[in-house]
Amino acid sequence: MGVSIVVPFGYNSPRDMERITSGKPRPEDTVLDTSLRPRRLDDFIGQDKVKDNLRIAIAAAKGRGDALDHILLYGPPGLGKTTLANIIAIEMGVNIRTTSGPAIERSGDLAAILTNLQRDDVLFIDEVHRLSRVVEEVLYPAMEDFAINIVIGKGPGARSIRLSLPRFTIIGATTRFAMLSPPLRDRFGAVYRLDFYDEPAIERVLERSARIFGVKADEGGLGEITHRARGTPRVANRLLKRVRDYAQVMADGEITEDVARDALGMLDIDPIGLDELDHRVLQTIIEKFDGGPVGLDTIAASISEEADTIMDVCEPYLLQLGYLERTPRGRVATRFAYEHLGIPYGKRPPQTSLF
Ligand SMILES: Nc1ncnc2c1ncn2[C@@H]1O[C@H](COP(=O)(O)OP(=O)(O)O)[C@@H](O)[C@H]1O
Ligand SMILES: [Mg+2]
Repeated sequence: MGVSIVVPFGYNSPRDMERITSGKPRPEDTVLDTSLRPRRLDDFIGQDKVKDNLRIAIAAAKGRGDALDHILLYGPPGLGKTTLANIIAIEMGVNIRTTSGPAIERSGDLAAILTNLQRDDVLFIDEVHRLSRVVEEVLYPAMEDFAINIVIGKGPGARSIRLSLPRFTIIGATTRFAMLSPPLRDRFGAVYRLDFYDEPAIERVLERSARIFGVKADEGGLGEITHRARGTPRVANRLLKRVRDYAQVMADGEITEDVARDALGMLDIDPIGLDELDHRVLQTIIEKFDGGPVGLDTIAASISEEADTIMDVCEPYLLQLGYLERTPRGRVATRFAYEHLGIPYGKRPPQTSLF
């Protein structure tokens, strides 16, 4: 008899759920999210360019008494897309309704959501790249002309009526910009990319969270967590919570450098935040495929992992570190990856040239 494991929406596999270094939300994050999520733009740390642009857009829209343009937020999991969408609604002083691409199954579902919006409301569509084609077709006129076409009846007698909607703002979020259909992409008036946070920004996220938790932490302690947070606020907060628990039980409650190092040492994360899966990906490319290039699906298959997990969670950070390169023929491990794993670089036979 087989055991079936129900993997909640948004995860690719049970293992994906367990990774402490994943930017994707884990069940334990729900409480973290409600207590730690900044509510105003001024409390949102980093991403200064995005914030500056949003401030202007919000002030302008409010000045005109208009709804905000449709906004697309994209970037790896855990960088603040959902947080920003909520902040935008708060700053605009409007309601936000939240849904996601896969949750809207039929065009009728979307029509129902849209016709219930009030003027200037925000409709947040997470994982917007996973909307089905038919649903997208309904969304186009809604975004462009604030109207939907509804078909009444069936067969030859069916007729289509056009229903106008109040002005509203769609905020879409995605980890996969490239998977968005071009017509949908074009209908967003503003597109913002969230980047990994630099270490000073992550440290500020941690300081803020430590304050909210009411836990004492010195610079060395927060620094240790910062190095392993993969430039991702969600991961930083999750590690902080683990270290806090450890400090409380194993030390006198204060997060010092030693306490943080001991606590983090128990989590199977290396000093720069790479976990076992990141290591397996790099090792496979280097040892099985001579450093690449090798296709993502081939890597995934040879380590029995979902290609989606590698693409969403491992790859963006490895690319950012410069450990991995994407080429038209596949992924290549760079010299830095070899060095990090302690494998001599240049093991490969020299490339022979025909000339
Ligand atoms: N700029 C930020 N400043 C402070 N905390 C942040 C920031 N961005 C994200 N966070 C924290 O990280 C968590 C994850 O952010 P979230 O918006 O859910 O990411 P995403 O939707 O991109 O996956 C939030 O709960 C919040 O506590
Ligand atoms: Mg989110």
